[in-house]
Amino acid sequence: MQVLPDHQLEEMPSEMSFRGRSILAIGDLSKQEILSILETGKRYEHCDCSSFLKGKILVNCFFESSTRTRLSFESAMHRLGGNVIGFSDSSMISVKKGESLYDTMKIVENYADIIVIRHPLEGAAQRAAESVNIPVINAGDGANEHPTQTLLDLYTIQKTHGTLENLSIAMVGDLKHGRTVHSLARACVHFGIRLYFVSPPMLEMPREICNFLREKGVKFSFHRNIEDILKKIDVLYMTRIQEERFVDKQEYLSVKNLYRLTDAHFDEVKENLKIMHPLPRNDEIDVSVDSTKYAVYFDQALNGLHIRKALLAMLLGK
Ligand code: CP
Repeated sequence: MQVLPDHQLEEMPSEMSFRGRSILAIGDLSKQEILSILETGKRYEHCDCSSFLKGKILVNCFFESSTRTRLSFESAMHRLGGNVIGFSDSSMISVKKGESLYDTMKIVENYADIIVIRHPLEGAAQRAAESVNIPVINAGDGANEHPTQTLLDLYTIQKTHGTLENLSIAMVGDLKHGRTVHSLARACVHFGIRLYFVSPPMLEMPREICNFLREKGVKFSFHRNIEDILKKIDVLYMTRIQEERFVDKQEYLSVKNLYRLTDAHFDEVKENLKIMHPLPRNDEIDVSVDSTKYAVYFDQALNGLHIRKALLAMLLGK
């Protein structure tokens, strides 16, 4: 992994400048702040920090299903010596009785030092943050953003390629509904990254994000097949077609099996190509890929633990 020269480290914001902040979108963070979190994540990968957040409480508010994000936040907090409360099934809390998100957050705020929220509605994390006086982390709001996923994605890319600068990344699959690719594409503006968007027409990267990339001078192009771009790229970022976000199930059925990466795809690819996926996967990556040198998606999920440890410590002022 790239080690920053001293002059760049000196330019980094101190960890104290993160204290009390919310992370709702990747755009909340400057390039230097992103690099500072990645650098801290690297330190937290190996540090003995089992009492750093002793006495602090994280509340996990998951209104939508999750394996990696919820459990890695939970594990991160425990490994830092803190405690975790929360819910992963909103039918078990009082929203079931009609309580609003605002009221729920006002109550939850009394019991914890930091809130992690996942919600099916875009803007819900923002709404939660406006309701309380403690930090809120967006763990995914509908099809909008998933900023901590992007931090662990960047960490993985930096770790595997030694740099984030001037790489070529292809994003494949459901680019319309995929909050992970929305946040990652927005982050790419900082690093001179060339983007290839591979999707069917109905699942293209939203116009608003394309306009943002254009304004920032990011080069990108649209494609229909993985094979068209595979030899050119450093990172292949696969995504699941998100059945739960389709209104018309026939539309979902028409695209659900469009992409399927297998170990037969890797003739003539770049030596250091890495296959990433935020997971969960359906059929878009065959298990034959798992044992190739290109697959890093399980390490990627592990990196979420290091990055979330760093974030919790930084936002809680340690
Ligand atoms: N990558 C991700 O957000 O996974 P989960 O939905 O399991 O949290």
